[in-house]
Amino acid sequence: MKEIVAFIRINKTQRTRDALAEKGYYSMTVNNALGRGRQKGLQYEISGEPVKEYEKGTRLNYIPKRMVILVTNDDKVEEVVSTIIDANKTGNIGDGKVFVCPIEDAVRVRTNEKGERAIL
Ligand SMILES: Nc1ncnc2c1ncn2[C@@H]1O[C@H](COP(=O)(O)OP(=O)(O)OP(=O)(O)O)[C@@H](O)[C@H]1O
Ligand SMILES: [Mg+2]
Repeated sequence: MKEIVAFIRINKTQRTRDALAEKGYYSMTVNNALGRGRQKGLQYEISGEPVKEYEKGTRLNYIPKRMVILVTNDDKVEEVVSTIIDANKTGNIGDGKVFVCPIEDAVRVRTNEKGERAIL
């Protein structure tokens, strides 16, 4: 099993959720995140253009993003990651980032099902 952790634009959340649901991935966790990438939090990352109230190049320490967490079987990782990329790629800086991490085990509390049976 793998945990897929994606940092995406806030305005892509619904599109990402719908694209994943269309392929049968319904379970996920969504958080609000503050973060920065290699532009070190440039304000104009938010929209792709300078925000009017700020001088161009004004820096925010952190930029609001959505954090999407989805645990899935190893053989589904490629499909989940490519679905997230397809829903989020604009070609502009700040499109987001996807991390894939190993998951040791999972338990469904109601049934005690473990491992892959717990996440289906
Ligand atoms: N190495 C990292 N570790 C933890 N979180 C990260 C890392 N890189 C990016 N993030 C998170 O992902 C968000 C989006 O990153 P972003 O898309 O700006 O990546 P980037 O590396 O700057 O690429 P780009 O040049 O396309 O903007 C960041 O705001 C941060 O929350
Ligand atoms: Mg960036």
